[in-house]
Amino acid sequence: RGPQSAVADLAGRNVVVSAGGTREPLDPVRYLGNRSSGKQGYALARTAVARGARVTLIAANTTLPDPAGVDVVRVGTAAQLREAVLKAAADADAVVMAAAVADFRPAHYVTGKIKKKDGEEPPPLELVRNPDILAELSTDRQRPGQIVVGFAAETDDVQANGRAKLARKGCDLLVVNEVGEHKAFGSEENEAVVLGADGSETPVPYGPKEDLAELVWTLVAPKFS
Ligand code: CTP
Ligand code: CA
Repeated sequence: RGPQSAVADLAGRNVVVSAGGTREPLDPVRYLGNRSSGKQGYALARTAVARGARVTLIAANTTLPDPAGVDVVRVGTAAQLREAVLKAAADADAVVMAAAVADFRPAHYVTGKIKKKDGEEPPPLELVRNPDILAELSTDRQRPGQIVVGFAAETDDVQANGRAKLARKGCDLLVVNEVGEHKAFGSEENEAVVLGADGSETPVPYGPKEDLAELVWTLVAPKFS
């Protein structure tokens, strides 16, 4: 790969990356989920290993092969992701939340398969909020000086929404992707920017997830004290 991978600027560092998307069970055969593949988180894990870090990857419902040299912890729900991330973060210099966490989960898990009945309205789906893992990690740093990074996709007002989200979460860096009908992932018009709590703004040129992963580590490494 590129020359950046030859840089061992994460040597001796311990990093945690979350990847994929959580699934919130409704009954034994159904869940609320999202389309996250986990590719960005896996790219972050691979590039961190290449730069010398010890890496724990918390993988939510991914089907990608385990990256070489990475400790992989598999989880399903947001609650399980939170547990695993907090546990791994106790010993980490940096935590990157690339996983798509379901904002809501069904209020009640139904132990038997939900059945439809002729002539009856569908039952309402009651939801409750999931814990905000990134905000929790940012507010209660698991280790002094730990660097916390979030990801966000926004459809409009990317800068303003990104800044507001960064402040709300309290993380050190927020990678903001601009998405929308004409800005689908993979299109030339894809745009991203990395916002820093220090006011910095780093535009991300269109390119593979591996390049964005390298850029994230290049921005994280100098923050280690
Ligand atoms: N995140 C998290 N826990 C949640 C929701 C989100 O840790 N319950 C993290 C994601 O992993 C991501 C970041 O927060 O790194 C931003 O996710 P996003 O969905 O954009 O933020 P939300 O606060 O959920 O805002 P929105 O209402 O726009 O979905
Ligand atoms: Ca969300």
